Amino acid sequence: MFVPAAVVITFVCFCSFQATFGQDCRSRQEIQGSLKQVQKLLSAHEASYLQSLSNLKKKINSLQSNAGKQTTKAANSTCAKLDAPINGRKLGKSHSVSHEVHFLCDPGYELVGSESRVCQESLTWSGQQPTCRDINECVSSPCLNGGTCVDEVNQFSCVCAKGWIGATCQSTVPTFFATMTNTSAATSAAAATLPAATTGPFVRPSRCSIVQGTTHCTCEAGYTISGRDSSTCTDIDECELFHNGQAGRLCLHACINTPGGYRCSCPVGYNVTRDGRSCKDIDECATRQNNCTKDHMCINTYGSFQCVSVDCPKIPNATYVKTSPMRCERNPCPVDNKACTQTPNSFSYHYMALVSNLSAPRVMFRVSALRPMGETLRFSLLGGRLARRHFTVQRSDRLTGQLMLVSPIQGPATVEAEVEMSEVEKRVQLGKYITKITMFVSQYEF
Ligand SMILES: *[C@@H]1O[C@H](CO)[C@@H](O)[C@H](O)[C@H]1NC(C)=O
Ligand SMILES: *[C@@H]1O[C@H](CO)[C@@H](O)[C@H](O)[C@H]1NC(C)=O
Ligand SMILES: *[C@@H]1O[C@H](CO)[C@@H](O)[C@H](O)[C@H]1NC(C)=O
Ligand SMILES: *[C@@H]1O[C@H](CO)[C@@H](O)[C@H](O)[C@H]1NC(C)=O
Ligand SMILES: *[C@@H]1O[C@H](CO)[C@@H](O)[C@H](O)[C@H]1NC(C)=O
Ligand SMILES: *[C@@H]1O[C@H](CO)[C@@H](O)[C@H](O)[C@H]1NC(C)=O
Repeated sequence: MFVPAAVVITFVCFCSFQATFGQDCRSRQEIQGSLKQVQKLLSAHEASYLQSLSNLKKKINSLQSNAGKQTTKAANSTCAKLDAPINGRKLGKSHSVSHEVHFLCDPGYELVGSESRVCQESLTWSGQQPTCRDINECVSSPCLNGGTCVDEVNQFSCVCAKGWIGATCQSTVPTFFATMTNTSAATSAAAATLPAATTGPFVRPSRCSIVQGTTHCTCEAGYTISGRDSSTCTDIDECELFHNGQAGRLCLHACINTPGGYRCSCPVGYNVTRDGRSCKDIDECATRQNNCTKDHMCINTYGSFQCVSVDCPKIPNATYVKTSPMRCERNPCPVDNKACTQTPNSFSYHYMALVSNLSAPRVMFRVSALRPMGETLRFSLLGGRLARRHFTVQRSDRLTGQLMLVSPIQGPATVEAEVEMSEVEKRVQLGKYITKITMFVSQYEF
């Protein structure tokens, strides 16, 4: 009987299961949008500030050049020295005829009297000596959008109506903080009932400064202004904030809120990646974190490992011997033993680690004959119902068949599929070769 010297090789289809996520994060775009607006606002402020500064410089320059011209004209005609008002300043040192002096009040005070006075030919000053008067900042109704003004010494503060923020309640609460407001409201409520919590690491005092009569309070990064008087900063719960973002999750697995920040954690068997957000499988087989014995092979899986060993099948009328750790071949059949020649020529074993819920369809594995044998090659799927539910076998070219995943497998699971390749000539089967593929599907999609 003719026994074909068939050589079967198999190619593992290496799939890359890199855990990627959250690049196009909608929540983050919203935050970036808000930040851009704040930046615009600051730029506008800066521009107007620089404009005023430049105007003032021009004015001073013109005053100085006038002064220069006039000192030569009327070198020795001066008016009485003028004092700066209390809580204010005087600009201009020359008291000569035709010279001007200007008066300014400190923040929180308003000027009553002449803003500028000129030394006249009569050597008297024009106008009235000004004074600086404490301002009731609330008189001008500075708080917008239903905010309540609270007058304080040299300043005021606004208690904003719901949905508005800013020194004068001029801005709507951005979405980012709207979510926060609920969180911080909850935190504040907790703080109110539990006084100890007000000084915990999640609540800190804000840093306030007074700029031109208005109070600006800021928080450290990761905190947001809270409290009726902006005196406290409450930790931003980033985990909560990004919890429902479709693609915008902060962490691939679990998120842990920390004072001023957050950190991600991974299941056992994974390490947090360098970027702090994803999980990377630990290769237990490479790091001796496995207990596989010498008789076993260690197969690294996502989140774990498996110890496997190949035992050659026991089939009547044929004997198989291991020719490599993952392969069994049939001993030559006795002449005229038909039962023997109909058994598979070889069994090959393959182990694959997969992540859960891998999308389908996709090629999982290819089985090829190294060279043509017989007339035709046939590929078919053997195995149980589970294998048939998830896989099909197709021919991809004359010498190659492929195992296709046709429906996603939810882990954790172990699924076995067998691909049979048989060579046929003149309707006679010349030989068949079995490839057993065992897939260890992890619990997670990473
Ligand atoms: C200016 O006039 C005053 C008297 O009016 C005189 O005492 C002073 O010395 C004069 N100064 C100059 C620089 O001429
Ligand atoms: C905040 O909480 C209120 C109820 O207290 C709710 O109606 C509103 O939708 C919440 N806002 C956000 C952004 O979660
Ligand atoms: C994974 O983390 C553990 C500690 O949690 C560390 O000992 C180990 O070296 C890390 N492995 C890799 C591959 O980074
Ligand atoms: C490795 O250890 C686990 C329990 O820690 C045990 O269930 C498993 O059988 C062990 N495997 C081997 C090959 O000893
Ligand atoms: C095949 O094996 C069975 C049982 O081992 C035996 O009864 C049978 O005779 C064998 N067939 C051949 C053709 O040798
Ligand atoms: C499997 O992945 C699909 C998207 O690829 C997703 O819609 C589905 O919810 C996932 N199923 C499970 C159980 O996670």
